[in-house]
Amino acid sequence: MSSSLLHTELCGVSMASPIVLLSGCVGFGEEYTRVVGFSNEDVGAVVLKGTTGDMRLGNPPHRVYETPEGMLNAIGLQNPGVDKVVDDILPGLDFSETRFFANVSGSTIEEYEHVTKRFDDSDIDAIEINISCPNVKEGGVQFGNDPEMSARVVAACRAHTSKPIITKLSPNQTDIEENARLCIEAGTDGFAVINTVMGMAVDSETRRPIIGNVRGGLSGPAIKPIALLKVHQVFEVAKHHDVPIIGQGGITTAKDAIEFIVAGATAIGIGTALFYDPLVCKKINTGIVDYLQRHEMASVSELVGTLQT
Ligand SMILES: Cc1cc2nc3c(=O)[nH]c(=O)nc-3n(C[C@H](O)[C@H](O)[C@H](O)COP(=O)(O)O)c2cc1C
Repeated sequence: MSSSLLHTELCGVSMASPIVLLSGCVGFGEEYTRVVGFSNEDVGAVVLKGTTGDMRLGNPPHRVYETPEGMLNAIGLQNPGVDKVVDDILPGLDFSETRFFANVSGSTIEEYEHVTKRFDDSDIDAIEINISCPNVKEGGVQFGNDPEMSARVVAACRAHTSKPIITKLSPNQTDIEENARLCIEAGTDGFAVINTVMGMAVDSETRRPIIGNVRGGLSGPAIKPIALLKVHQVFEVAKHHDVPIIGQGGITTAKDAIEFIVAGATAIGIGTALFYDPLVCKKINTGIVDYLQRHEMASVSELVGTLQT
């Protein structure tokens, strides 16, 4: 659906809708856009699968497991490596209707720098830095759970790109507000809040962990209340610096999306919901427009951070 009410500006990127399809849930955009009934008009931006310097085969099976109201995953950042993504995959994407954001990961600061530099020299619209992946042994959440290390990664990437940087924060940390503060000082333009929450599943018969990696990241409606609180906390810091947030974690309906926007999200991310309803974005956009009209608001930006406390 197309409506001027939905138009959203995020870190200087102009989007037709506040909806962002989340990293790891739509591959590199190519398969998802072939779903019958899908329209790029329904999507403000697509975040590509997490990308590293060299290709990664990911973790041993099982990599996903359904939980009550959620899903555990430990894919382990399987991807073909940044050269293949930039040289072979990006040229095949249609940038005319929606925006594409890269999702950068690494085991070292040097790897984050290298991947960022490669994407800087491409058509990508923004660079999301994933310092919150709980499913790899080195890097990822090791950086993201330590505010000073997070800021070092952001500063290093900042030095290698003039494109907007969106830092993806971990919910698996003690002080997300301090982390946000340091990342802003280090030069982030935006935040993605939150990545998955660490969890595990056990097979009681075999007494073995179900996920090959033992631990995994929990996503879906089960994490929504955690995600809402983290968006609210980060917004309390970020609003003083005009740094926008892509709120995410368990959004499946327009009502969920509106709750995140009220809590401080400028855009909202849809991930796990796409696995069981690939066309959910259309319904969410329609519901947001209906809400804005009922409340006599002229744009979705009027609703951002309007929580009454
Ligand atoms: C199968 C799967 C793979 C994911 N891969 C990535 C990834 O590569 N990089 C990343 O930053 N987040 C990744 N995520 C996290 C999502 O982008 C999102 O932040 C999280 O799932 C919360 O949103 P949701 O509850 O709507 O799924 C992945 C999530 C799932 C379910």
